[in-house]
Amino acid sequence: MTNWSPNSWRSKPISQVPAYPDQAALAEVEARMATYPPLVFAGEARKLKKQLAAVADGDGFLMQGGDCAESFAEHGADNIRDFFRVFLQMAVVLTFAGSQPVVKVGRIAGQFAKPRSSDVEKKGDVVLPSYRGDIINGIEFDEASRIPDPARQEMAYRQSAATLNLLRAFAQGGFANLENVHKWMLGFISDSPQGERYQALADRISETMDFMRAVGINAESHPSLRETDFYTSHEALLLGYEEALTRIDSTSGDWYSTSGHMIWIGDRTRQPDHAHVEYCRGIKNPLGLKCGPSMTPDGLIELIDLLNPQNEAGRLTLIARFGADKVGEHLPKLIRAVEKEGRKVVWSCDPMHGNTITAAGYKTRPFDRILKEVQTFFDVHRAEGTHPGGMHIEMTGKNVTECTGGARAIRDEELQDRYHTHCDPRLNADQSLELAFLVAELLKKDRAAHTMKEAVGA
Ligand code: PEP
Ligand code: CO
Repeated sequence: MTNWSPNSWRSKPISQVPAYPDQAALAEVEARMATYPPLVFAGEARKLKKQLAAVADGDGFLMQGGDCAESFAEHGADNIRDFFRVFLQMAVVLTFAGSQPVVKVGRIAGQFAKPRSSDVEKKGDVVLPSYRGDIINGIEFDEASRIPDPARQEMAYRQSAATLNLLRAFAQGGFANLENVHKWMLGFISDSPQGERYQALADRISETMDFMRAVGINAESHPSLRETDFYTSHEALLLGYEEALTRIDSTSGDWYSTSGHMIWIGDRTRQPDHAHVEYCRGIKNPLGLKCGPSMTPDGLIELIDLLNPQNEAGRLTLIARFGADKVGEHLPKLIRAVEKEGRKVVWSCDPMHGNTITAAGYKTRPFDRILKEVQTFFDVHRAEGTHPGGMHIEMTGKNVTECTGGARAIRDEELQDRYHTHCDPRLNADQSLELAFLVAELLKKDRAAHTMKEAVGA
């Protein structure tokens, strides 16, 4: 790796940087955090990379999701548990109905920093610096809250550690046991159409488990039935924080980000000669790269050269976020460039960030646009003969009203009822499950088309 170090990003141009008024205090916090224990281990990041390598080769599906922005105020066991439940429900729908191994990656335990399209926010005559996520400043619309405060980085670190601790317990300690498949149902969705669909699927899984038990395969003898691998991810936006948590792995001698298993580069900070790409190219974790409408085929290949020069499968996930009306035009060009150059990537679909509109004064996303983007993503891959490898969504386990539509048909006028997000509108538990069922159908069709192709030797 030529001339890279955890701080080499500091000599590059950079966008989306908060204006910390007290640089000495910032440096002090960063120096202290550099002595704190890592949140994740290099070996875990390598395991995730291996699982993503299988997806890049056409086997499996990456399910990545969580809050747009985690918040300090909503940090609690119930939120984490409800999120994890819906996540498990979605994963089981995708695994069982879609017949694919599912790689589970949360946007959680570190997803705090937000890029903004404007540096300032206006309300009436008052103009204040934009909210940039709880790791940087406060969401309240007053001058004091909006001043970037370095102490928030330590709070985010500690919240991430506590969240990760509970997630590890849930994933490995019995909660994720497939024998509990009925218990993951959340009260408020049990009487919805998605709830009924899920119950029916859970019944089939239970029957299958009974059968397997009868032939000697059970959760006691097979850890994969009682435990699951769950990984964390976030946008690597606040580079001082990331640098402080960048460590050398003693077994390989390589640098790893220990702030999360996978980190991604946002659509606004992916300039090839800028700081965010510089930081990410030097660490060995699996990386995500958001690809929006301004990404050109040549620009993409240039970034792949920088971020994955060894063409290692599992290293790079391209997260397409074009919008329902644009994905059909943009995605094929990028896929063709990647195929022509023989680059190994995971293709994932973020159907959220290109479909944001304003309705009744709220930032929202119509559920039918989200579905349409996912559907088109699958159609394009079918036409190009490539693997639709994953989805990346903003979701919560709570019964919020932030995205319109869905089977329960949330209307514009209802957005105000339970609109709680700190940044972008999230799918609620019902909508998340509905999306999972749709994607499972698409995966099943994709698999069938593949098997057919293999059978005729194509
Ligand atoms: C996000 O994932 O919350 C985000 C800001 O995405 P993008 O960089 O794709 O706009
Ligand atoms: Co977002």
